[in-house]
Amino acid sequence: MQKPLIAGNWKMNTTIHEGASLVIKLRELIKSIDSVDVVIAPPSTSIHHLNQLIAGSSIQLAGQNVFWKENGAYTGEISAEMLRAIGCSYVIIGHSERRALFGDTDDRVNKKAHAALKAGLKPIICVGETLEEKESNSTLGKVKGQIMRALAGLKTGSLKELTIAYEPIWAIGTGKSATPETAEEVHNSIRELLYEDYDTAAAKKIRIIYGGSVKPDNIDSLMAQPNIDGALVGGASLNAEDFARIVQFESV
Ligand code: 13P
Repeated sequence: MQKPLIAGNWKMNTTIHEGASLVIKLRELIKSIDSVDVVIAPPSTSIHHLNQLIAGSSIQLAGQNVFWKENGAYTGEISAEMLRAIGCSYVIIGHSERRALFGDTDDRVNKKAHAALKAGLKPIICVGETLEEKESNSTLGKVKGQIMRALAGLKTGSLKELTIAYEPIWAIGTGKSATPETAEEVHNSIRELLYEDYDTAAAKKIRIIYGGSVKPDNIDSLMAQPNIDGALVGGASLNAEDFARIVQFESV
């Protein structure tokens, strides 16, 4: 089993200066942690600078998005190779905000996952249902469909690089996290789906992390669930003390 993964998605927050002061605080607060993979996903304008500030620490960097082409006339886009070159080891793909606001379809998510792996970036693929889908008992169907389409054509050998982030859309930025039991039920079904589609040893290596209103006061109970391998944190990752406390969850 891999280490747990706690990732902070800063979204479109922080200038380069604000990001630097956040990272300097965070670095100090978690300097003794090596039992968790700690990842931050700042805006791309800050990544290169922050890469210098995390040198010698265990903090790793992620892009918040990637385009699947290697280069060319794609104004505004950033390739996987470019993210690698400024120090990223991970990339978030298919976040619900990108799906809802910027046209990321399952097919695009799949292309981005292929491109990321090819460039040596570890994809964190986000899936999750709306409130309407949850209330009509469609959560598992939605999430399984998103995963199958996102992973189409990926080689078994690359699965160990992959993380799936289950982020129920109704829990993002609302303060209403899924209960640990509800999240565990979905994570367990995702794990079973992966067992059906890939050999068990390969499927076990995929980390399944939870996102949606993760805070210092709910991280311990979420991480106590057997199939929750980490967290993707939005708002609380913008506060160094809160994020440091989340990283240092108490394992039961
Ligand atoms: P919040 O933690 O602010 O709910 O955001 C979750 C999220 O979208 C992380 O990607």
